[in-house]
Amino acid sequence: MNEFVVPALAPRATASPTGGGGRRVYVETYGCQMNAYDSQAILGRLGAAGFTQVADHLAADLVLINTCSVREHAEHRVISRVGELRRQREQAGLPAAVLGICGCMAERLQDDLTRRKHRIDLVVGVDRYGELPRLVAELFGGRDDPQPIVATGHDRDVHYVAPPELYPTNSSHLVTIHKGCDYKCTYCIVPYTRGPQSEKPPSVILAEIGAIVAAGGREVTLLGQNVTAYRWRDGLDFAGLLAEVARIDGLERIRFLTGHPCDLRPHLMDLIGREPKVCPWLHVPAQSGSDRVLKRMKRLYRRADYLAMVAYARRAIPEVTFSSDFIVGFPGETADDFAQTLSLIEEVRYDTIFTFKYSERPGVPAARLGDDVPLAEKKRRLAALIARQSAIWSEVAAAQVGQVWLAVVEEPARRPAGHWRLRTASNRKVIAPLTEPTPGELRRVRIIGWRASAFLGDPVA
Ligand code: 5AD
Ligand code: SF4
Repeated sequence: MNEFVVPALAPRATASPTGGGGRRVYVETYGCQMNAYDSQAILGRLGAAGFTQVADHLAADLVLINTCSVREHAEHRVISRVGELRRQREQAGLPAAVLGICGCMAERLQDDLTRRKHRIDLVVGVDRYGELPRLVAELFGGRDDPQPIVATGHDRDVHYVAPPELYPTNSSHLVTIHKGCDYKCTYCIVPYTRGPQSEKPPSVILAEIGAIVAAGGREVTLLGQNVTAYRWRDGLDFAGLLAEVARIDGLERIRFLTGHPCDLRPHLMDLIGREPKVCPWLHVPAQSGSDRVLKRMKRLYRRADYLAMVAYARRAIPEVTFSSDFIVGFPGETADDFAQTLSLIEEVRYDTIFTFKYSERPGVPAARLGDDVPLAEKKRRLAALIARQSAIWSEVAAAQVGQVWLAVVEEPARRPAGHWRLRTASNRKVIAPLTEPTPGELRRVRIIGWRASAFLGDPVA
């Protein structure tokens, strides 16, 4: 039986049988876009139960932190943030709020979280957000049991639908299309915290996007750990799903994150190249340029396979751009292995790369390999990779000056005054002075320069 947690799309009630009754909730989100989406689903659920969202934790009765476990650093940040939130309330003379931890740390650490000194009241795993209204009602209802509540464990049939009214109209609307991961790369905690891959049914995805379009949305970003591995029971794969989504009237652009190199097969790349609504931007993490490291990571492709995929995409998808994630200092990574990563970015010429120092995660297969690259060496490799990418980016960017692009208006730029941030279909960011733009509208800009990660443009009539 499928159970879908579908928060009510109706305006938030002020009182409800589940007991939100005018209480205020503050949610802070860490980690990937899946967490950003889940936080919206949580707010939708609690909104339907009578909670109002607030932007300041000091004004909240319920504080939820949606967490990430992918690197140790991400977990440390959350733990110190919990202490900070508590201290700030004490300093303001406020009573303690009900404090809950959601997301991957909830799933990974479970009871351990409540044993620490942080006075956490509630630990809710990634598949248990549907139970939040009931669990918080219990906590607010003056329970006799002083023990924190822990609700964790996977349920492959639970998928969330975040209400579109909670999104700002200017941005791409996130739509999670599957959860979990079956790849089991040796360094990664995600298959354990998010569980096995499980697809949201196509009918639910199409209805969700239909509702977004009806609410004024024109662009969606399909989300998942490996969206390109999507396969529904009757055989509908990611290419088939993209084709169905593209048929939705009123929807203008479709982006997607993240792709796995093994799933970017020719028929999928052909479809991306052919379907005007699908944006020509591939975020396909390579992780390393060395076959020896890729094998130890169990990435299931070789450097040559990755480069062949990139070459095919360049032929099949006009104006395609690439972005990637890289890990430096994986166990056993030698100077020569790392040099292969540098040469890979040289060959591919990505627009953007996200770079990470290897972080050993307890219990994953790579933990048995030992974390043998010294921290100082990881830092050196990270800096070298970033410096090389920045030089490549300067060359790529310089070649674009003078071009005229069509780009979506997103939001006001922080500076200079009167400038806006725009984004092209290829995911290139442009900052340009615009008069009276409407977020979501398409504008033409001529590229006149670039900064670290964005182009500078002038409007073209
Ligand atoms: N250490 C460092 N980086 C990691 N990633 C995943 N697991 C780890 C780890 N243990 C990176 C990968 C992935 C990105 C989301 O996080 O590059 O693509
Ligand atoms: Fe982690 Fe690999 Fe799955 Fe990505 S594909 S979530 S890196 S196990």
